[in-house]
Amino acid sequence: MNYEEMLKLAQQVSQNAYVPYSKFPVGACVLADSGNVYTACNFENSSYGMTICAERNAVGSAIAAGEKKIKAVAIYSPKKKNCTPCGACRQVLTEFRTDDDIDVIMQSEEGIKVTQLKALLPDCFEL
Ligand code: THU
Repeated sequence: MNYEEMLKLAQQVSQNAYVPYSKFPVGACVLADSGNVYTACNFENSSYGMTICAERNAVGSAIAAGEKKIKAVAIYSPKKKNCTPCGACRQVLTEFRTDDDIDVIMQSEEGIKVTQLKALLPDCFEL
């Protein structure tokens, strides 16, 4: 699946976001090294800190399906262009990156923007 299609899936799943508090929907589409993709949205809670980001939700689905490595992640919010993963999600994604890192795909004003996870979280913690 190409990055445009991944971003489209992220956009579609963002419509299912449960965001009564922030009103900030996010969708994510993770590409595993198997070639399979996994989509998820953010969902919030009245106990605000229990909120789960779209990216971590999508990573969880990939892992539950038996995936071990992630090659790329597309993130979309209708509220924000260049919607990058939060710090916590960057750390979680790091755990599953391939030797070639993870491409991070976003919607920019001009079209698609692609960066790499290591550019977003340099010198990150790993065991
Ligand atoms: N959110 C995500 O889903 N992913 C991010 O990387 C940033 C933040 C969600 C959490 C919360 O539901 C809303 O966006 C506002 O912070």
